[in-house]
Amino acid sequence: MPRNQVEYPIRLHLFQVFRRRRGRGPFESGDKAPTGGGKAAVRCHAVDVTPQDIQIPPDLLPADGRFGCGPSKVRPEQIDAIVAGAATIMGTSHRKPQVKGLVGSVRAGLTELFGLPDGWEIVLGNGGTTVFWDAATFGLIDRRSQHLVFGEFSSKFATACAEAPHLDEPSVVESATGTHPRPAAEAGIDLYALTHNETSTGVAMTPTRPIGADDGALVAVDATSAAGGLRWSPTDVDVYYFAPQKCFAADGGLWLAACSPAAVERIERIAASDRWRPASLDLGIALTNSRSNQTYNTPAVATLIMLDEQLRWMNEHGGLDWCAERSERSAATMYGWAEATDYTTPFVADPAQRSAVVATIDLDDAVAADDVNAALRANGILDTDSYRKLGRNQLRVGMFPAIDPADVEALTACIDHVVARLGT
Ligand SMILES: Cc1ncc(COP(=O)(O)O)c(C=O)c1O
Repeated sequence: MPRNQVEYPIRLHLFQVFRRRRGRGPFESGDKAPTGGGKAAVRCHAVDVTPQDIQIPPDLLPADGRFGCGPSKVRPEQIDAIVAGAATIMGTSHRKPQVKGLVGSVRAGLTELFGLPDGWEIVLGNGGTTVFWDAATFGLIDRRSQHLVFGEFSSKFATACAEAPHLDEPSVVESATGTHPRPAAEAGIDLYALTHNETSTGVAMTPTRPIGADDGALVAVDATSAAGGLRWSPTDVDVYYFAPQKCFAADGGLWLAACSPAAVERIERIAASDRWRPASLDLGIALTNSRSNQTYNTPAVATLIMLDEQLRWMNEHGGLDWCAERSERSAATMYGWAEATDYTTPFVADPAQRSAVVATIDLDDAVAADDVNAALRANGILDTDSYRKLGRNQLRVGMFPAIDPADVEALTACIDHVVARLGT
C-alpha cells in the first residue's frame, strides 16, 4: 500500500498521539480528552493501544520480516545449500578436499565479485572482524595508524591500536555523529584505517587513498556491513576486510580480507620479523593457510556454505553492480519515505553520506521507537531497533542485497500503519 494510504492522516495522528503516554489512564472510545487548552483539548476516540496488540493486515506485510543489520536475513537457498551438504560436507574435515574446495570457491567468488586485480589475495580466519582488528595490530601496522572515527565500530579499531604496546599512539580524526571525517595524509602514518559503512550510525563513505600519504602507506577498510552491497575501487584500497553476517547473509565468526600485493608484502615482512604475535592472530599464518584454502584452526563449515551460496547468487545476477543497485533501490524508497513523512527524518543529514545498506531514521518525539519496534516485532517484522549505544528515538533498517526492495517498501507501509494505530 502506498504510504499515504494509512487509514489516518499522519499529521492528524501526530496531533493526537501526544495524548498517548504510558502510565496515563486510557481514553475510552468517545471520551473527551481532558481540557486544558491547546492540543490537550483534542478529542481522542480510541483507547491507549498496547503495541503488541496491533495487527498489521497481512496484505501490508513484507514477504520476509528480517531487517536486522547483522546478523541479517539469510535467504532460504542458503539454508537449502547446508541441507544439500548434510551428508557430504557438514561434519567433514576442514583439511580434506571437500571443505578446502568450499574455501577455494569462497575465495574465487570474492575475487570475482570485487573484480580484484592480479596479485590480490583473499585471506581468512576465525573470529570475525573484531579479531581481525587485533590481528592487524600484530601483523599489518608497522608503527602508527590513522583512524577516521565516526561511530562505535571505527572507534573500536582505534582503541585496539592505542592499547597495543608495540605500536605508537594512533592518530584519530573524528567527526560529529551522523557524518564522516575526510581522509587526510599525515607524515609517519603507515596505515590509514577507514570504515566503508559505520553500521552504528548509517553513515557511509567512499574509500579513497589520502593524497600525499607516505610511500608504502596502506589503506585498510572495515567493510563489515558494506562488502557486497556498496561499491569500491581496489585502486583506493589495500585491505578490504569484513565478516559475512551482513551483505553475505551468513553467520558471523569468520573474518575475510581482500589484500593488495602491497598488503601481502607488509604481512609477509612483519611475519618474518621478531615481533611477538599470538599464533591465532598471526596474519602470516592466516595467509599461508588461506593459500591452501584452509583456516589456521577449525572453521564453522555451515557459515562457509552460506557465504559461498550467497556469492554464487550475487555473481550470477551481475556481481557487485547488481547488488549495489538493489540496495540503492531500497535506500531510495526508505529515505524518500522518511523525508516525505511528517514523523520521520533521516538521521544522516547529508544525502551523500547516507548508507544504502543501513538506514537510520529518527522518529518524532511523539512517536516512541520502542513502541513501533514492539508492534512490528509482534507482527514478525524483526530487528528494526536503533543501535543500542546511539541512544536515539530511531529505527535502523538493514537494506542488504538479500533484502527485497519490495519488502523495504512494505516495511514503510507497516510502520505508517503501526504509528497510526498507536495514536488512535
Ligand atoms: C562496521 C563494523 N565493524 C565491525 C563489526 C564487528 O564485527 P564482528 O561482530 O564480526 O566482530 C561490525 C559488527 O556489526 C560492524 O558493523
